[in-house]
Amino acid sequence: MGKTDMDVSVLGFGGSEIGYQRVSAKTVARLLGGALDAGLNVIDTAECYEDSEELIGKALGARRRDVHLFSKCGHARAEARSDWRPEALSRSIERSLRRLATDHLDLIQLHSCGLDVLRRGDAITALERARGRGWVRYIGYSGDGEAARWAVESGRFDTLQTSVSVADQEAIDLTLPAARAAGLGVIAKRPLANVAWRYARKPTEAYYQEYWERLRALDYAFLRGKADAAVKTALRFTLSVPGVHTAIVGTTKPDRWRQNAALLGDGRLPEAERERIRARWKAVAPASWEGQI
Ligand SMILES: NC(=O)c1ccc[n+]([C@@H]2O[C@H](COP(=O)([O-])OP(=O)(O)OC[C@H]3O[C@@H](n4cnc5c(N)ncnc54)[C@H](OP(=O)(O)O)[C@@H]3O)[C@@H](O)[C@H]2O)c1
Repeated sequence: MGKTDMDVSVLGFGGSEIGYQRVSAKTVARLLGGALDAGLNVIDTAECYEDSEELIGKALGARRRDVHLFSKCGHARAEARSDWRPEALSRSIERSLRRLATDHLDLIQLHSCGLDVLRRGDAITALERARGRGWVRYIGYSGDGEAARWAVESGRFDTLQTSVSVADQEAIDLTLPAARAAGLGVIAKRPLANVAWRYARKPTEAYYQEYWERLRALDYAFLRGKADAAVKTALRFTLSVPGVHTAIVGTTKPDRWRQNAALLGDGRLPEAERERIRARWKAVAPASWEGQI
C-alpha cells in the first residue's frame, strides 16, 4: 500500500454501518470472522461510529494480528463538535486503543478536518507524536476536495482515504495522481456510492440523497441490469482507478464480504468499460459535484 509496508486486501471492511445501525456483537463476530477466513485484512473504523470500535475489538480478539487496523480522530463520540486540539486528538487515540483492545493501530487518520486545521499544522503534529510513541504505525488524512489535495501535497501523511465511486469521481483528477506520485497509500471510502441506485424513490436518509440524485442524472446503463452485476461493475470501477489500493465497503450483513469478494473474481474492469463510465461522468457532472465527505 504505497510506501507503507502493508500488503492489503483490495476489499476492506468499512466499520461505520455496524456502529450506526447498532449491529449486535454476535453478528459482528460472525461477519468479521467469516471475512477474515476468506482473506480480509483491512478494517477501517472511527472514534465517532457509535460502538464500532468496541464491536471490532471484541470480534477480533486474538486475530488482531491478522489485520491492518485503521481508525480516525477528531470527533470524540457523544460530542457534537469536532475537536482538533492536539491534547484532544491524543486522548482520542488512547481511547481508540482501549476500545479496539490493541496496543497499536496500523493507521490513524484525521477525520475530515478542513483546510484551516491542516494549515495550522498542530493536529498533524499530534498524529506524528502518536507515531513517535508507537501508538500508531502510520498517519493519514481522510477527506476530500481541496483539503485532501493540501494533505497529499504537504508530504506529512502516509495515506489518503477519499471518496471514489461511479457517483463520486472528483478525486480521480484532483488528488489521486499526486497521491500516486508521492507513494501514498490510498483507501477508497464510500466505494459503492452506498448502492444508492437501489432506491426507487429519493431516500429519506440525507447521507444517501446526493449520490441518489447524481446516479439518476448519470443514468448508467449498467445500473439497469441485475443487482449483483451492477454492484460488480461499480466495485470493479472503483478498484480500477489508478492509485487506489483498497476499497472499504460498509455492511451490516455477515455474508456480504464474501459475496463482494466473489464479485471481484474477474479482477479489474476492462479499460473500455472503465472509459465509458468516465466519459459519462465527464459529460454529465457539473463542477458542483464535489467529493462527498
Ligand atoms: N469522512 C470519512 O472519513 C468517511 C465518510 C464516509 C465513509 N467512511 C468510511 O467508508 C466506509 C464505507 O462507506 P459507506 O458504508 O458509507 O459506503 P459504501 O461502502 O459505498 O456502501 C455501503 C452500503 O452498501 C451496501 N452494500 C454493500 N455490498 C452490497 C451488495 N453486494 N449488494 C447490495 N448492497 C450492498 C451496504 O448494505 P448492507 O448492509 O445491506 O450490506 C451498505 O448499505 C465506512 O464504513 C467508513 O469506514 C469514511
